[in-house]
Amino acid sequence: MEKIERDVVIVGAGATGLTAAHRLQQAGKSVLVLEARDRIGGRLWTDHIDGQLYEIGGQWVSPDQTALIDMLDELGLDTYSRYREGESVYVSPDGTAHRFTGDIFPAGATTEAELERLIGVLDGLVAEIDPAAPWEHPRASEFDHISFTLWLEQQSDDAEARDNIALFIADAMLTKPAHSFSLLQALLMAASAGSFSHLVDADFILDKRVVGGLQQVPLALGERVGAENVLLGRPVRRIEWSETAAPGTPGAVRVLTDELEVTAGHVIVAVPPNLYNRIEYAPNLPRLRQQLQQHQSLGLVIKVHATYPTPFWRAAGLSGTAFSPYQLVHEAYDNTNFGEEQGTLVGFVSDEKADAVFRLPAEERKRRILTSLAAYYGPEALSPTVYYESDWAAEEWTQGAYAASFDLGGLTRYGALQLEPVGPIRFGSSDLAAEGYQHVDGAIRVGARLAAEILAESPAAQ
Ligand code: FDA
Repeated sequence: MEKIERDVVIVGAGATGLTAAHRLQQAGKSVLVLEARDRIGGRLWTDHIDGQLYEIGGQWVSPDQTALIDMLDELGLDTYSRYREGESVYVSPDGTAHRFTGDIFPAGATTEAELERLIGVLDGLVAEIDPAAPWEHPRASEFDHISFTLWLEQQSDDAEARDNIALFIADAMLTKPAHSFSLLQALLMAASAGSFSHLVDADFILDKRVVGGLQQVPLALGERVGAENVLLGRPVRRIEWSETAAPGTPGAVRVLTDELEVTAGHVIVAVPPNLYNRIEYAPNLPRLRQQLQQHQSLGLVIKVHATYPTPFWRAAGLSGTAFSPYQLVHEAYDNTNFGEEQGTLVGFVSDEKADAVFRLPAEERKRRILTSLAAYYGPEALSPTVYYESDWAAEEWTQGAYAASFDLGGLTRYGALQLEPVGPIRFGSSDLAAEGYQHVDGAIRVGARLAAEILAESPAAQ
């Protein structure tokens, strides 16, 4: 077995791990990034499918995501705006498509007023939440013990208003049914983006894309860290750590892959929390840590791309933006790449709807998804030239999408503990972020925070 020594080992070459590695290296530390997959980027992945470039994972950048925007500047990457000229489409419970402009669905005066009122109530609560410590809100325990569904039922008798408010957090963000997570978890999701109103405003939350794809962020970081310091195809199997050696002491931790033994002063486990338990720890992690890890899980969403000879919806005066909690594809957008003549739509099938279509044969799943796109854009949507479903749940080193959230009551019970190191081991990913929670912005913030914590602990800094 090959033996290597470094100051810090990083498990996972996603945006979090590579940000941490880059910052540590800039501060003079030696690092080694061990990545299970044969590629860099984790949940960021830009690839050609049947000749068409698709962003299989994360892609959008919003104006509040300043850590990501600064990183794009630092790496010299350009952005462009999502196409948004023209009218949006909303499909009502009876299946009728309605065109509209602005953020509020054309759901009738009473329901529209109720939507505005609920958004106001949520904005008020979100303003009181610190995304770095939602468990410290005076009513955190009460908010964490009620599901988002039940809370909405207590707030409003208007089912269509409730269904649409739930969509912004459940289908569109946490990708779990609204009955399976708490009001506090919903408030954290909104607080991490600045307000609930930001989640409703597609022009804000899905503002820009990166020319050539967002995976370039981890790819460029990987280049800076150096190919010799980022080893692919090396799943970490075991972490041996000492309860007595001070973190930062050479050899405080031993990280093992099938072929390598790396000793270091610190290790950063930069993988989503649902994968912590795929690594063996010796000694075992403390008991509450082992409990904590069983209360966070990834959501489930299928990201669907469909490409057509032209963006035909633009000619019909449509922006491509479409929503409906009553459709299999609950939201869809114009996702045409920068400078391309062909038109691409992207749609999302979330949580229990995704479960249902994953039980079907692939051709039937495709037929139902395209039929749902046709409900928004008309029959031309039924015949794409290229079609692709991102299937992150089938990926061994992710197992869901977009990210992880706590079960009911988990945030107040274990939220603070998830941020604490265990001896020389630190855990972090976008799933543990405050601002930018579940997003690349959050991954960059967490990576930078973990690097800063290690530097603050290292002897040279004292
Ligand atoms: P990430 O999961 O990317 O990285 C972890 C790495 O660890 C992976 O490379 C994995 O292979 C590796 N690993 C796991 N176990 C290991 C082991 N035992 N040993 C070694 N390596 C191991 N965000 C956004 O800002 N805008 C958006 O539009 C979207 N949209 C979106 C769509 C889809 C379909 C997905 C799946 C995700 C998004 N996101 C997003 C979320 C965003 O992609 C995500 O939050 C970050 O990329 C996560 O980066 P991390 O580095 O934290 O984890």
